[in-house]
Amino acid sequence: MADGSMMTTEFNPATDSRAFRDALGCFGTGVTLVTTMGADGPMGFVANSFAGVSLSPPLVLWSPARSSNRFAQFSSARYYSIHILGQEQQALTERFGRNGPGFSDLPHDLSPEHSPLLANPLARFDCEQHAAHDGGDHLIIVGRVLRATLRDGDPLLFVRGKMTGFGA
Ligand SMILES: Cc1cc2nc3c(=O)[nH]c(=O)nc-3n(C[C@H](O)[C@H](O)[C@H](O)COP(=O)(O)O)c2cc1C
Repeated sequence: MADGSMMTTEFNPATDSRAFRDALGCFGTGVTLVTTMGADGPMGFVANSFAGVSLSPPLVLWSPARSSNRFAQFSSARYYSIHILGQEQQALTERFGRNGPGFSDLPHDLSPEHSPLLANPLARFDCEQHAAHDGGDHLIIVGRVLRATLRDGDPLLFVRGKMTGFGA
């Protein structure tokens, strides 16, 4: 804006990772819970790095951090399910955060491939790993969608580090 009412700062993303994260965070996304059956039982991972990739074949992607405690299990999982959370499902993101109870005491079904399934997601994509690509400190995992579900409702949104929703 020429009137000076908005200030734009330029930064070097290689040296100012805080500003880089902030800039990335102004790209609003939905929120997903990625689930898989780990060696010790069902596991869930909150991720906003989800994107649709291809319609034919049906492909989607998400990116787990290599630094995650759960990276090995999620990056090697043949089957997993990606749940897009509805606006009223924010509590699930705390349950599946670092110190949350995860799937313990949470009733769930299993897909035919044994991925743990959450009740009532806005949409769900049951995937088989199709490819994995280098993504720096993350891994870009592309999944072929074997089965999908969809219901009415508004999505949970994540923008500038905060959860929100349409009309919130
Ligand atoms: C809204 C939201 C989106 C997130 N998206 C991602 C993501 O796409 N990839 C990722 O590696 N971590 C993401 N995280 C962080 C992970 O869910 C997790 O908390 C973090 O990797 C720590 O995991 P660990 O306990 O397995 O080390 C996200 C967290 C939140 C709250």
